[in-house]
Amino acid sequence: MKEMLQKIREEADRRIAESSTPEALDEIKVAVLGKKGELTALLKGMKDLSPEERPKVGQAVNEVRAEIEAKLDEKRTAMRRELLTAKMKRETIDVTLPGTRQMRGHKHPNQIALEDLERVFIGMGYEVVDGPEVEYDRYNFELLNIPENHPAKDEQDTFYITKDILLRTQTSSVQARIMEKGDLPIKIISPGRVFRSDEVDATHSPSFHQVEGLVVGKGVTMADLKGTLDQFATSFFGPKTKTKLRPHHFPFTEPSAEVDVTCFKCAGKGCGVCKGSGWIEILGCGMVHPHVLEMCGIDPNVYSGFAFGIGLERVALLKYEIDDMRLLYENDIRFLEQF
Ligand code: DAH
Repeated sequence: MKEMLQKIREEADRRIAESSTPEALDEIKVAVLGKKGELTALLKGMKDLSPEERPKVGQAVNEVRAEIEAKLDEKRTAMRRELLTAKMKRETIDVTLPGTRQMRGHKHPNQIALEDLERVFIGMGYEVVDGPEVEYDRYNFELLNIPENHPAKDEQDTFYITKDILLRTQTSSVQARIMEKGDLPIKIISPGRVFRSDEVDATHSPSFHQVEGLVVGKGVTMADLKGTLDQFATSFFGPKTKTKLRPHHFPFTEPSAEVDVTCFKCAGKGCGVCKGSGWIEILGCGMVHPHVLEMCGIDPNVYSGFAFGIGLERVALLKYEIDDMRLLYENDIRFLEQF
């Protein structure tokens, strides 16, 4: 019995020493200490021994079992340590190596202009609201006094998804949406993308941006409109900027006007930027047409309002002295980084 025990121990020692993976150790454990293992078999054979011998042999078997278990543990720990060392070696980072440089983006001139513009109007108490780019004919045209067959519809041709749904041609559509909601008074701007069937050239693009403005309340007058636009022009283009309202026609405002600002380059003397006139047109505006108020559910005998629509690219090009709108859409980082 003793010899067998000795043999088992030596054999286990040898196999543990030779093993190189945790799985191999598991196998040894099962083969020697497991339910059907060699040591267990030995214990089962104890029933043939005399009562005096039994405890001695039992103790010897337990000692050998403890010894093998300890050796297995020791080997397993050593293996783990080795694996960890190898892994750490593989994953060593040389912190002195130069890093990979992250390319930093740059704000688009349109975005810079929009943020400047929003700051000015938020400062005057306006709320910035959003509207959908895919719009109903009803909001883009009908509620703005542009019924079916109105010539303005031809001038603002766009992509129709169905007869009644289209890519909006103007952010004025948001005016109708906000007025229809009926939370008065209203004081909002609404920037966004618009779409028209225009050929690309230095001043045109089939997709561009507008910033709509709308104020509706009791006793709102054209003087408020003029004061607001003066404030915008001086804050946005500089304190010496002057504005001029020229009579114009828009179906949804009465009276309507186009607004020019003194040329930032020559301050009104006349130069290449303003084509010699000293003035540059930047937006359309007017007093909200009583019929438009009425169609949107607002009583024109109690309320009045003004509205304006600023061409975002227009003011961005002017402010940053860019002479071709196409540059805004090419997204050449060498161009964008200049602003
Ligand atoms: N929506 C007009 C356009 O695209 C611009 C405009 C003019 C907007 C007068 C207005 C306005 O709100 O009152 O040409």
